[in-house]
Amino acid sequence: MRNVTKDNITEAFINYMGEETDPRLREVMTSLVRHLHAFAKEVNLTHAEWQVGINFLERAGEISDAERHEFVLLSDVLGLSSLVDMLHSTPEGTSSSVLGPFHISGSPPLSVGGDLRGETDAQVVLVEGRVKDPEGNPIAGATLDIWQTAPNGLYSSQDPDQDTYDFHGLQTVGEDGRYAFTTVKPVEYTVPSDGPVGDILRACGRHPWRPSHLHFIAEAEGFRPLVTEVFPEDDPYLDQDTVFGVREDLVMRYQTMPAGSFPEGGFDLSGKVAEDYLKVEFDLTLVPA
Ligand code: BEZ
Ligand code: FE
Repeated sequence: MRNVTKDNITEAFINYMGEETDPRLREVMTSLVRHLHAFAKEVNLTHAEWQVGINFLERAGEISDAERHEFVLLSDVLGLSSLVDMLHSTPEGTSSSVLGPFHISGSPPLSVGGDLRGETDAQVVLVEGRVKDPEGNPIAGATLDIWQTAPNGLYSSQDPDQDTYDFHGLQTVGEDGRYAFTTVKPVEYTVPSDGPVGDILRACGRHPWRPSHLHFIAEAEGFRPLVTEVFPEDDPYLDQDTVFGVREDLVMRYQTMPAGSFPEGGFDLSGKVAEDYLKVEFDLTLVPA
């Protein structure tokens, strides 16, 4: 097209796509460019503003590497990661929530009733529940990949003072679908804000905090994998998670249990918990694939 105008440039883009273009790619690109052009027109985007956007993308590329995923973080703080999660969640199953950049594969096995707390000097938290299908039947053999922050608010991959798999474990449930472990209460923390995404947060008057949470990836043959998180109901950032990960069904009570009431058997810490402890009960419902 030689007479490109601001009124026909979107159609020109669409017409430039070849006939052999994959139909889904055509649909996605058409919509993306329609919205992109409409956005530029709506805000009457200036050259200077366009340049700020390009500089942002360049800086995000420069700071990204195998461990630092600035574009994922951008998607997270814009709410896109959570929106994609919610578009593909089904109401019969537990809500999914952001994976985040701190998951590491290869976590060591954690027996049912095992302990993630190690030598940490913090109140014991007992977490337990069942992995079940939408009818409430236990899913035998389901695996739970579990990870969380240490009490200092850092994941092991961020903290040279932790071993690689501190506060990480892979639990396989038995015939009854029950999982259980002891740990410490995770704490709220900030997403990385020393890069271009941090600049956006500051420019928009936003904070980088996430409410504390336990991460889970639940997997079982014949079921859709579930990536999710569990939040305590009293967390100060519950209503303002900077990556929009909180869902009603993922908010749990950390119930204080009196000294002397810790289960006498079935846990690595049985017989070793004399003080009050906290208990969280949370079932995970997986939907068939
Ligand atoms: C996390 O929960 O680990 C996380 C999620 C999104 C961005 C940063 C961290
Ligand atoms: Fe996290």
